[in-house]
Amino acid sequence: MTAILWLFGNRMLCKKLGSTSEKISAVGQGTNGAGRRSTAIAELVKRRIDVLKLGIDLGMSFLDTAESYEEGHAEEITGKAIKGMRDKVFIGTKFEPGHKFQGIINAIEGSLRRLGTDYIDLYQVHWPNPAIPISETILAMSKLIEQGKVRYIGMSNFTPNEFEIAQSYFKQGQIVSNQVEYNLYHRSAEADIIPFSERNNFTVIAYSPFNQGNFAMEDSKQRLLNSIAKRYEINAYQVILSWIISRPTVITIPMTMNAQHVRENAAAADIKLLEEDIQTINKTFISECQLIETDRIRVINYDIDETHPIYTTLKEAIENKFNIKPSPVDLAAEINMETILKPVELIETSDKSGQYDYDLVHGRIRFWAWVIAYNGNKRIPAIILDYTGRAD
Ligand SMILES: NC(=O)c1ccc[n+]([C@@H]2O[C@H](COP(=O)([O-])OP(=O)(O)OC[C@H]3O[C@@H](n4cnc5c(N)ncnc54)[C@H](OP(=O)(O)O)[C@@H]3O)[C@@H](O)[C@H]2O)c1
Repeated sequence: MTAILWLFGNRMLCKKLGSTSEKISAVGQGTNGAGRRSTAIAELVKRRIDVLKLGIDLGMSFLDTAESYEEGHAEEITGKAIKGMRDKVFIGTKFEPGHKFQGIINAIEGSLRRLGTDYIDLYQVHWPNPAIPISETILAMSKLIEQGKVRYIGMSNFTPNEFEIAQSYFKQGQIVSNQVEYNLYHRSAEADIIPFSERNNFTVIAYSPFNQGNFAMEDSKQRLLNSIAKRYEINAYQVILSWIISRPTVITIPMTMNAQHVRENAAAADIKLLEEDIQTINKTFISECQLIETDRIRVINYDIDETHPIYTTLKEAIENKFNIKPSPVDLAAEINMETILKPVELIETSDKSGQYDYDLVHGRIRFWAWVIAYNGNKRIPAIILDYTGRAD
């Protein structure tokens, strides 16, 4: 059975990684989902490993993880899933943005141990961090390449400007990828990072293709996706994946804990939507950026969970007691240097006092950084969402 699946898997659409000759699956796999090691349920861990293995069998050989995911457990699980198949997979992992030079050199040892391998195919900076010079970060990554522990390096959540600066310090070759959020609800990458990747020939790894599972949408939009799906004899989720990877430099990494879903996601790599369907989706799912007064936005413990600490006041944000890196103050300094940030995301407020128009649901550090940078006197770029209930 496995051999047959491999044959099928080999036919999956692959794309070139940046300007290298390396080919990686256009639909890869996110690896989180089973929870932290300390609280993980054995049945979930088994399912996580089985689904990842099935995905690999189906050709989804690019696996994306990070040292921070589930406190390292996602890397451990990935290590178990790829055991005996190291040469068949392409492993991308990420290090925390708070690491300085030596921190990065140390961090990879943990990732290698948890993944049960002696090299990482794609080593990525998880987020930009203005508090640490990118030249220092690149120096550490270059050293890891020289030591044979890393094959390629990539960025994550970098703006074109930040990417360009990072590239200017990397003398050994190309920074092959930038991992950014891209889905039907979050399309700002189309305005900057995707065209920039096309001009500079690097790969965009679209994360959260299913908006972390939040798909409440107007009936008319749902009907549109369903009607397109029906014509191709696929489902709406597959339409979304094939829409994402229809852009030449873009690949994606959906996360699923479900065997049927991983089959559907794998099959989506080989579906080619007609240009007219792509355009219809483009025109229908528009998220226009607006400028909103910051004091009309309420920041509450919305969807709070312990992995995403929230500052609900300016004072808390300045104190940064959770030691978030980059801190709101660090990021404010970047904004003052005219760095453009992704818009924050808002929903209509549930507050009845009349003081607020919106509740903040995504971009809490960016929000406070903006308030600090402009003393609360400048309207913030925001997208107003028509759904509720996402985790940050
Ligand atoms: N670089 C970064 O800063 C960053 C940030 C976030 C995420 N990521 C990466 O991106 C990966 C994916 O993003 P994500 O975890 O945020 O979420 P996602 O892939 O957008 O969504 C996951 C959700 O979609 C559902 N799903 C998956 N396939 C489906 C299908 N065929 N039909 C119906 N539902 C389906 C899953 O449920 P089931 O389990 O029931 O299928 C799950 O609830 C992560 O695993 C991570 O590797 C990177």
